[in-house]
Amino acid sequence: MRQQFELSRRSFLAVPAAAFLTSRVRLAAAAAALMKDAYRDVFVIGTALDFRRPDEFDATELDLITSQFNAITPENSMKPGPVHPQEATWNWTAPDALMDFCAEKRMKAYGHTLVWHQQTSPWFFEGADRQVALARLRDHILTIVGRYKGRIAGWDVVNEAINDGGDATTGATENLRSSSWLKTVGPDFLTQAFKFAREADPAVALHYNDYNIESGFKHQSSLVLLNRLIGEGAPMTTVGIQGHWSVTGLTPEKLDQIEQAILNYKALKLKVAITELDVTLTGAGGGQLGRGRGTPPPPPTAEALQAQADAYGKLFAMFVRHRDAIDRVTFWGLHDRRSWRSGQSPLAFDREGRPKPALEAIVAAAPSGAKVRGSASIQVVDLHRE
Ligand code: XIL
Repeated sequence: MRQQFELSRRSFLAVPAAAFLTSRVRLAAAAAALMKDAYRDVFVIGTALDFRRPDEFDATELDLITSQFNAITPENSMKPGPVHPQEATWNWTAPDALMDFCAEKRMKAYGHTLVWHQQTSPWFFEGADRQVALARLRDHILTIVGRYKGRIAGWDVVNEAINDGGDATTGATENLRSSSWLKTVGPDFLTQAFKFAREADPAVALHYNDYNIESGFKHQSSLVLLNRLIGEGAPMTTVGIQGHWSVTGLTPEKLDQIEQAILNYKALKLKVAITELDVTLTGAGGGQLGRGRGTPPPPPTAEALQAQADAYGKLFAMFVRHRDAIDRVTFWGLHDRRSWRSGQSPLAFDREGRPKPALEAIVAAAPSGAKVRGSASIQVVDLHRE
């Protein structure tokens, strides 16, 4: 049985001295402040992961999932490629396991994603004209959204449709990425996808999700695109700002841009979700980078961890200011070792799932009155009975 000895001075003293003589003391991850409780009346706090195997997570990780978060997004298992690799083949084991876990633990589940230029199998487009591609898309969406109807809180319907970069000229346009969906169906593939999702589930929240849409020319393009979708009657409820950021990239100017983007989306009568939050210690951020999983990074310095905590603290203070527009903040991963950007230590928990300074800063940014400190869950285990 794995043990953690993270005794703060206070909790150490709280344990009767005699207990140490005859027993082992096991401290669970719950000794930390709890994000989901601090933000219970503010917005949902999510994580992204998959149950690829029944023993995917150890006991410490399971405790972390259920104590710190109240929502889960499947990191990969509901993407078109993994879940629907051939027209007649569906892989339901991992998505179903996630849905069952969420139901059992009373956590929300968010679907990710229905239409994307990546992780989508070529069969969708093979020999397809517009009508055939749309028919395949409709069948895909009706099947997966229908399967989880009433059990998923929101779907990322379209992911990352806008090109990177841009200039003043593209910023005045939608600047759509030249994906197979665009090339095969045309620019209304987005509205069609939203309508299919609404057809499958009349109540679920429906998101347009993208990275770097909060600033610069890509933000301008996002406003052009969202206005067009609204005008076409796309049943979109929410904009997902992915939030793959970095400590160095979160300058005061960038923070202002994020805040203005939230206001701009709110002005379109859309909700905003931060759907894939991570803040790397190094690197420029963005949606496409990452050292491979498992590449052990140099151990972060105390200064770097504090700078990351400060960045997270500023972000959450801003999210709290716009709690009327923001309904969820989801971190992209459980802890640094499992992160897609694990080489850059981007999350609030370290490679062993232990709280980093970022966690304290995030909880400290919660509105006063909403704060709840997690109680140190000290279990005194009688050695003779184990
Ligand atoms: C990433 C996953 O985290 C990786 O495991 C996978 O190899 C690639 O995709 N934007 C998204 C997410 O919308 O689906 C991506 O997730 C990260 C960037």
